[in-house]
Amino acid sequence: MPEASKKIEALKESGTVAISDRARQMQQEGIDVINLGGGDPDFATPRHIVDAAFRAVEQGQTHYVASKGVPQMRQAVAAKFLKDNGVRYDPDTEILVTSSGKAALYMTIEAMLDAGDEMLVLEPAWVSYRPLIELVGARPVGVSLEPGAGFAITRDVLEASVSPRTKAILVNSPNNPTGRVLNVEEAEALRSFAIEHDLWVLSDEIYEKICYDGRRHISLASLPDMRERTVTVNGMSKSHAMTGWRLGYLGAPAALYSQILKVQQHVLTCAASFVQFAGTAALEGPQECVRDMAAQYDARRRKIAAMLNEIPGVRCPEPEGAFYFFPEVDYRGMDSYQIARFLIEEAHVAVTPGEVFGKTARKNIRLSFATSMENLVNAVERMRKAIIGTTVLK
Ligand SMILES: Cc1ncc(COP(=O)(O)O)c(C=O)c1O
Repeated sequence: MPEASKKIEALKESGTVAISDRARQMQQEGIDVINLGGGDPDFATPRHIVDAAFRAVEQGQTHYVASKGVPQMRQAVAAKFLKDNGVRYDPDTEILVTSSGKAALYMTIEAMLDAGDEMLVLEPAWVSYRPLIELVGARPVGVSLEPGAGFAITRDVLEASVSPRTKAILVNSPNNPTGRVLNVEEAEALRSFAIEHDLWVLSDEIYEKICYDGRRHISLASLPDMRERTVTVNGMSKSHAMTGWRLGYLGAPAALYSQILKVQQHVLTCAASFVQFAGTAALEGPQECVRDMAAQYDARRRKIAAMLNEIPGVRCPEPEGAFYFFPEVDYRGMDSYQIARFLIEEAHVAVTPGEVFGKTARKNIRLSFATSMENLVNAVERMRKAIIGTTVLK
């Protein structure tokens, strides 16, 4: 039989698979596992968005549309970028609507990099960045941020990983998994670094709408001299609880945009047509639903971070954005894989080991709080009992 591609065979499976497989197996055995591994909002997609999709289907929006996206959605995205992010993109030549934030990231990386080019990835980082870069034959280079320094981004840390082959840098704020939000100093460090080394910047802003304590999200493309080297990726999944709709978008400077568009034309043709009308309604309609969801995440964040910090050996800074806790856990010298394994076996709580996001996170675990307060309270109570050795499960 012929063999599969060596490049794809070398690609690692998602690091979250082992724990989620175990969680599923335990659930099949009838064990009540609380899964804090996922990144899917526990809210229903708001009604007016669902209605817009039904209307579009009934009106016959069930065919191919322009590859770059329907004009209504591109206009809505351009208006959003200008209003929320202070970046002006031309809806005809700089806005692309696509089937998910993930697809937007992949197609941008295709258009930015040649085989052998290096792309810096600030780590801990979301699990798909490295594989997406490897898929195009380029090389991801991790920039290790330290938990002890609050995962701070400085010029020194950035300079340590640069080489003559560095062509681009990937930035994610608000951050999955660390919960950090770029501050003004960090944004300026990234700006001056990218300009001095003449790099592309890929800015993943998918958690933009989930910032806490009045923090303001900074879009890197809005900073002086950054627009022409930056691609801003965003999508509907997290802000509007639309993960299953697979709808994302990007803003890119016109010259690079036309290259990304070619990838979309050949790989996807276009994002689903009626889904784009739902997305238009999401962007142009009332935004209270977005604020309400963020407020509920915030309530969970405060209460559960305080509970986590009461467990001996657990140190959990309050996340600044997104919906993940990323505490350090000091328990019997265990690394993050061992802690995750211990928690699923002894507490029946599924979490993600920090090391799947980057090597500096060897004591961290990631817990998603995109689940109900009741689940979260139960999960933390189980963790506390397991850690202090009074397991009452089984
Ligand atoms: C940091 C980050 N970027 C992008 C995505 C992709 O989102 P989607 O493909 O649903 O738009 C996710 C999803 O978990 C994410 O956590």
